[in-house]
Formats: sequence, structure tokens, C-alpha cells
Amino acid sequence: MKFPELPLRPLSVSPSMMCADPFALREVVDVFAAGEVEWLHIDIMDGRYVPNFTLGPDYCRALSRASRIPLDIHLMVEEADRHADLFAEFAGARVSFHPETVRQPVRLIERIRANGQGSAIALDPSMTLESVAHLLPLVDQVVVMTVNPGYAGQKLLPFCLEKIRQCREWFAKEGLATDIEVDGNVSWAHIPAMVMAGANVLVAGTSSLFVNGRVRPADLGRFRAVVDEARKSPVGEQSILAR
Ligand code: DX5
Ligand code: ZN
Repeated sequence: MKFPELPLRPLSVSPSMMCADPFALREVVDVFAAGEVEWLHIDIMDGRYVPNFTLGPDYCRALSRASRIPLDIHLMVEEADRHADLFAEFAGARVSFHPETVRQPVRLIERIRANGQGSAIALDPSMTLESVAHLLPLVDQVVVMTVNPGYAGQKLLPFCLEKIRQCREWFAKEGLATDIEVDGNVSWAHIPAMVMAGANVLVAGTSSLFVNGRVRPADLGRFRAVVDEARKSPVGEQSILAR
């Protein structure tokens, strides 16, 4: 099937701020601001949906006062509909949630939109694309998790790459230019396959940008170069353009 040609999706970097050393936060944010990263990925964890706790609304407030980079807020929480409004004050933010954590995901997508924010669903590795097909047309972004949610430093689950490709094909078939974010073990070695599969927003954590909680400007330049290289490959271009 020939899908309509779609413009190449811009490739964005969304560094995972849970990987930043809190005592080096000012330095880390300055590197990202100078490197013009498109998002700051904020993992919110409740110890229930995932066994870990991380950042919260106060952290987001401090960050939004210290930097103009929009927040890419990833709610890894049960009953995300009970908490989304806590983050409504962050203008220009994107808010993603795991649909299996709420009874009425469409209502929450609408709520996030009504808050003036971008809406996104995040797919745990066990979630199939078919199970959320009815939600795909409603969101600005799909977050494909390529590790089990909850911790930095985990290893890629290779079968999740196919979900990225399926998702990109689904959007191409529908003529939708929805962002696909890949979250988890976005390493130097994995970036090409993730970009070729169709991801265009990359969550950069300890697998690439963060070394001992800090970020070197040169690594941000390297990240962009690796992404651009992946995009130039014939397969890479094809995966982002409609096949
Ligand atoms: C996983 C987190 C991500 C990411 C961290 O639950 O959402 O922030 O995995 O980056 P890595 O995987 O590179 O340490
Ligand atoms: Zn995340």
C-alpha cells in the first residue's frame, strides 16, 4: 500500500531529568539551554504504577522558573486522571500518561488539552498498539517505552522497536504527523534503529547524555550528529517518510 508522502518529522531531544545530579542541575540545564534541546523529560513516579519514586510538581515548578525549555511530563502513576491537574500550570508542557491507569483515557486526553497542554499516551512494553488504536488519532504524541518503566539504566527490550515501526506506519496510513517518542535505553548504539523505526522524539538518559549525573556539551553535539546520520540512511529516511 502506498501511503501519502509525509514531511520528515523534526527530530527532537528530550533529556531525562531524573538522570541529572540534583547538585549539578543548574549546570545541566544551562548545557541543554545552550544546546537548544526541545524538551525536558520529567518522569513522575508514584511507587504504585512503578516501584520507584522520582520527581514531582515542585521540581517542575523550580525547573520552569529556571529555564524556558518546555516540559515533557511523563506520568508513570496509577489513576493519572487524579494527578494531571497538578501539572496544569506548566504552559507549553506535554503530558503523557499510561492509558491502562485510568478508567476514561479519552476524558483525560481532553482534560490535558483543555489545560492548554499537549496530550500523549505512554505504552508500557506489554501494551499492544491494537489495544490503544482508538486513542492514537486523539493525541499529539505516543511514547513507546523500550524498557520496563520505573528506572534509568535498564536494557532495551528489542521487541519494542517493532511497535515504533507499527506506530509510524499507522500514522502514515492515517496521514497524521503525530510525534513518536522513544523512552528507555536510548543509547548511542540504539539511536539509529529507533530513528529508522520512526521515532522522532528521543528521551536521552544514562545510556547517552548523562555521565555521573552531568552532561558534556560535546555529547549533546554528538547526539544530534548520530540522530542526523541515522535519518540520512536510506532506511532511516524511508521509516520516517511514509512507505
Ligand atoms: C525509564 C525512564 C527514562 C529512561 C532513562 O523509566 O522513563 O527516563 O529510561 O534513560 P536511560 O534508560 O538511558 O537510563
Ligand atoms: Zn519517561
